[in-house]
Amino acid sequence: MVRENQVSTDMLIQPYFVIEGDGPNVPVPSMPGVERVTINSLIKQAKTVHDLGIPLIVIFPVTDDDAKTDDCAAAYSPDGLAQRAIRAVKEAVPELGVMTDVALDPYSPHGHDGLMDEKGYIVNDATVEVLVKQALSHARAGADVLGPSDMMDGRVGQIRTALESAGFVNTRILSYAAKYASSFYGPFRDAVGASATLAGANKYSYQIDPANSDEAMHEIASDLQEGADMIMVKPGLPYLDIVRRAKETFAVPTFAYHVSGEYAMIKAAAQAGWINEEQVVIESMMAFRRAGCDGVLTYYAHDIGRWLASENKLS
Ligand code: PBG
Repeated sequence: MVRENQVSTDMLIQPYFVIEGDGPNVPVPSMPGVERVTINSLIKQAKTVHDLGIPLIVIFPVTDDDAKTDDCAAAYSPDGLAQRAIRAVKEAVPELGVMTDVALDPYSPHGHDGLMDEKGYIVNDATVEVLVKQALSHARAGADVLGPSDMMDGRVGQIRTALESAGFVNTRILSYAAKYASSFYGPFRDAVGASATLAGANKYSYQIDPANSDEAMHEIASDLQEGADMIMVKPGLPYLDIVRRAKETFAVPTFAYHVSGEYAMIKAAAQAGWINEEQVVIESMMAFRRAGCDGVLTYYAHDIGRWLASENKLS
């Protein structure tokens, strides 16, 4: 009765790495328990998580090398992998929310989230033009929530304007407003095949310096002013101070991304028998809640859904 926060399935967003073809799913070695899934398998899993009460999934395409070009044109192809996956899920499980990743890293030969100039610098404004096309292609395919994770300046405003003028007035923007240049993204980059293309490069010229907190507040303020409906802090547990500050400052729907490196750390310790996986994950979700999160994007969403469902059966 006196418990201040609850962990529930309706706070969860389940991510999926999606691959082409009808072959078997492909495990991600640095994320035991996570697989890259075909569209057919995605549909089955989407039904399961929907039945567990998870309201939203997010799709990350794992693109083939021939889809990677300097202009990143495959990002907005109406028949691209992401666009087909969105349509397939919305057709099979219409009530399940589908979110997308708006960023160019699966489509660029260098693994960066934007277009690169001759000097190797990521160019903001030209990138935003491509992001707008990508966002519109996701909305046309039926996406409910767009997640710009690229960290270019001004993209939320331009995506919002384009959505409005194309009639997508109900498509939400969950902006990765405070995304840090973090080393916790390593396993994700393995999963989508970006580690090899990035070849040790970093994203410091457009993601936030982990030393900064005021800067995150400026980034969030500008995304909200440009029309973001919800905001994301990323990574998760090491950045709960940012979540708390954001929630107190802006009082908008606030999400955190419990990222791949955080998943891998818990998984590795659990596999070694050093911690109790379920308890550590639930406690982590409680920590997100306590910090002020409305929801959490986590690779553990499906597991948490199962754990909570079996607890409910017991009580
Ligand atoms: C790229 C993107 C990244 C993640 C989500 N979208 C990686 C990056 O910025 O390099 C990382 C998520 C995770 O680590 O789980 N647009």
